[in-house]
Amino acid sequence: MNIVLLGAPGAGKGTQAEKMVKEYNVPHVSTGDIFRKAVSDKTEMGIKAKAYMDRGELVPDEIVIGIVKERLMTDEFKDGFILDGFPRTVAQADALAFSLGEMGKKLDMVLSIDVDKEELIQRLTGRRVCNCGKTYHMVFNPPRKDEICDECGEPLKQRDDDKIETVNKRLDVYFNQTLPLINYYKNNGLLRVIDGRKSASDVFEEIRGVIGVYK
Ligand code: AP5
Ligand code: MG
Ligand code: ZN
Repeated sequence: MNIVLLGAPGAGKGTQAEKMVKEYNVPHVSTGDIFRKAVSDKTEMGIKAKAYMDRGELVPDEIVIGIVKERLMTDEFKDGFILDGFPRTVAQADALAFSLGEMGKKLDMVLSIDVDKEELIQRLTGRRVCNCGKTYHMVFNPPRKDEICDECGEPLKQRDDDKIETVNKRLDVYFNQTLPLINYYKNNGLLRVIDGRKSASDVFEEIRGVIGVYK
């Protein structure tokens, strides 16, 4: 199963990817997670990426494309993948199709998780994350103890790019640079639109229905 999760910042790509990994046992690649790890490890790539991420802008295509291609060629992804946050530009989508072709693979479907702007802003500004990878929301999915991770007991943090000014910029970038991919994947028949406004478990039920039919 080779799947792309498309959706605005805060649409629930990471939340649904986590459920899909459990259900289908397919590995997940999040370019945002890769960059955040590189930033915290202070690698050369992380230092470059941080400047763009802090401004809510996209990291340049030539950096992202190389990283994803390298990952997808590893053995871990030989039986499939769930891509979250990539592609985000038409150039990235073209590069992905080309690289998969070289590997004798292709995408099975692109799930576009659709959520309106007001809801996206609420989700992003209320999100809290833990170093262990768990994601919470102060209203929609709160931890049992205030600001403490249920899984590992560490204090939760807000992502640097979840401050309201950066959220607005990220949403503009999505509407200008990533939205054209909806038509791109509609035109090649891969697009499946998922109503992302429901609860996370109801959204997942819809995804299961769609994947079930096309498996
Ligand atoms: P990235 O990390 O990919 O961020 P994003 O696309 O902005 O998406 P998010 O992770 O913010 O949202 P999500 O859809 O995963 O939502 P989540 O499930 O967490 O990218 C960060 C940056 O890295 C970019 O700005 C860019 O600089 C760079 N980058 C990454 N990829 C790149 C690329 N390909 N090219 C160039 N640059 C790139 O949910 C959000 C919140 O809502 C959570 O609190 C969650 O608990 C809650 N929630 C989820 N679902 C529901 C629901 N159904 N109901 C209620 N609450 C919900
Ligand atoms: Mg995410
Ligand atoms: Zn934790």
